[in-house]
Parts: sequence; structure tokens; C-alpha cells
Amino acid sequence: MNGHKRGAVSFHRVRKDFGSFTAIHDLDLEIEPGELVTLLGPSGCGKTTTLRMLAGLESPSSGEIHIGGQDVTRLPANRRDVSMVFQSYALFPHMSVAQNVAYGLESGGTKPRQAMSMAEKGLDLVGLAGMADRLPSELSGGQQQRVAVARALVLEPQVLLLDEPLSNLDARLRRRVRTEIRDLQQRLGFTAVYVTHDQEEALAVSDRIVVMQGGRIAQQGTPRELYETPASEFIADFIGEANVIDCVVEAVANGSARIAVGNLRQEMVARGATPGPAKLAVRANAIRLLPGPGALSGRVLSAAYLGDHMEYEVETENVRLFVIAPEDDRTLSRGDPVSLEFRPRGLALIA
Ligand SMILES: Nc1ncnc2c1ncn2[C@@H]1O[C@H](COP(=O)(O)OP(=O)(O)O)[C@@H](O)[C@H]1O
Ligand SMILES: [Mg+2]
Repeated sequence: MNGHKRGAVSFHRVRKDFGSFTAIHDLDLEIEPGELVTLLGPSGCGKTTTLRMLAGLESPSSGEIHIGGQDVTRLPANRRDVSMVFQSYALFPHMSVAQNVAYGLESGGTKPRQAMSMAEKGLDLVGLAGMADRLPSELSGGQQQRVAVARALVLEPQVLLLDEPLSNLDARLRRRVRTEIRDLQQRLGFTAVYVTHDQEEALAVSDRIVVMQGGRIAQQGTPRELYETPASEFIADFIGEANVIDCVVEAVANGSARIAVGNLRQEMVARGATPGPAKLAVRANAIRLLPGPGALSGRVLSAAYLGDHMEYEVETENVRLFVIAPEDDRTLSRGDPVSLEFRPRGLALIA
């Protein structure tokens, strides 16, 4: 095997049909060694199918998959040098935590004693050194998930695959475990392919996010690139819940564009915009509401108090906008007349 490419993954024109339905359309994707790439998208967009083809649990209808420079398209799962962390953990309930972690090593031919000592090191890595003799049922959900990660890691796979690994955890634990997984991945430097439908989780853990829609890549980039320069309305809305509204680009000069929404004029980064009608993505937290009329006047349709912030729905003459505002003394109520202003950093023109 090409050692210098250890951990690299490549999909070349990979297609997957289930009967007459095409779940994945000619997917091209390159993953660098040591990179954490997240497949993100709504349910049914093809994330799991892509991951399963990489694991060898599903075989492509056409195209090639390479791992570490080797063509693995026709290799069975057990010869692929990847390990998968499942959403359900899939731990053996009657085996101790250490036995669970050692199991895969032993079935791969490692001597029991050495497997046990490697399992203990693996548990140490995920912060569970003291739990080796417990049964899975004696651990919390977050700890069980860490056992599943340790079990995958001790096999020292070229690529770790994680399919919605946090979906069985409650919200508070999800945040902690995702940080732990990311820390471990950066510390040990392994390649990881992470699947989630949760955009916040994807933003938090990824080097690069691949957004999928209907079995195709809709856009890929760093979390910041996707958030700040969404390529389509779908991406703008899926990542960070933007309002997408009509605007007119009136002038472009020196990398800056002047746009108009109704009577409101706003300067913003042009990013290749040309004069004429355009779509504008406006982040919910980039809208300032001022009491009374102004250049862009509207009315509060609904107001909800959420402790540290307020959520409003506002209607102007021709658009309806979702607004997140800091909680302050000027709380607005349903029916109040307001005027809207935009913060330039929360705006993106969409091609
Ligand atoms: N074994 C299968 N047979 C038929 N259709 C399938 C099969 N597995 C997945 N699909 C379909 O392929 C599409 C993608 O599924 P999946 O990869 O599981 O999506 P995701 O993980 O993004 O929710 C869905 O429409 C799903 O119904
Ligand atoms: Mg899935």
C-alpha cells in the first residue's frame, strides 16, 4: 500500500442505484489524510449510502473508491482498513467495556493479552481508563459512545467513519461529546468522515463540510466559506437559517456592491455580483429592528421571548423575515410598527 497516502480517500464518479432510483449521482470527492470531512444534508440526501459504500457495506453501481491510494471498490468490508462508529453504539451488553474494545482486535488475530492491553490504552485515550471492568449498561450514554469510539480507534484504521454518532445523546451531552471527538481526531491526526443532518454540529467539528442534496454535492468548503458565501438558496437556508429575499444590485465598484431592498440602500461585499436583480441571504441575527417607520418599514407578526434573545417574525410590504435579536428593554410586541436595517457581515448575494 502507498504509505504516503495513508488516510486519503477518493470517490471517482461513484453512482449508486437502488432499482430504478439513483441515490448517489456520479460523486467525485477527495479527502486529505488527517482531514475531518462532514457529509451534511437533510434526511434521504444520501449521506449514509455514501458512508456505507466507503465502508464496503454497500457496493457502488459504477465508479471507483480509493483508500490510501488503493482501489478498494471491490474489496469486502473486513479488508478495507476503516472502522465505523454507529449511532446505536452496537456494544455487546454481556461483555465488559474492555472486552468490547478488545473484541475487534482479537477477531483480527491479536493475542488476547495484547488485545487487552491495547484496549486499556484505547480506553485511556477516550478518558475511560477506570471503567474497563464495567458493563456497558453501567455507563452513561456519552460514556458508551466513547467506548464505541475507542473500539474503532484501537484498530488503527486509515479512516474513521461516524454516522450520526451523537443522535442518541441529549443536547447538553452532544455538545461535549462532539468536542471530545474533534479533540481526539486533531490530537491523533486520523482521517474521519462524519455524517450528520445537524448544521451546527457540522460547523463545530469539521475541517470541511460537504453539503449533499438529492444524492449530489450541493457545495463544499470550510464551515466559514459555507456560512459566509453560500452558493445557493438551499445552502443559505440549510446552514445558519438565512432569510432569502429579492434585491437589486444597483452598482458595483472596488469590490463593493450597493444593493436596494425596497427603499433601503446597503453597501456590502460584492463577491462577483453584477448589477441587476439578485437574491440576498440575510442572517436572522443580522437584522436590526427599530421602533417606528424608516427606509424599510414593517410590522411585527409574532414575538417570542427565549431568555437570552428574542425571536420575531416581521412583515414588510413584500417580504417576511425571521429575526433573532438580543433581549433588551426595547422588546417589541405583535403589531408594532418597525423599520429594518441590515448588518453587512450577515449578508451574502447568491448567484
Ligand atoms: N437499501 C435501500 N434500498 C432502497 N432505497 C434505499 C436503500 N438505502 C437507501 N435508500 C434510499 O436512498 C436515499 C438515500 O438514503 P440514505 O443514504 O440513507 O440518506 P441519509 O443518510 O442522507 O438520510 C433515500 O431516498 C433512501 O430511501
Ligand atoms: Mg443516514
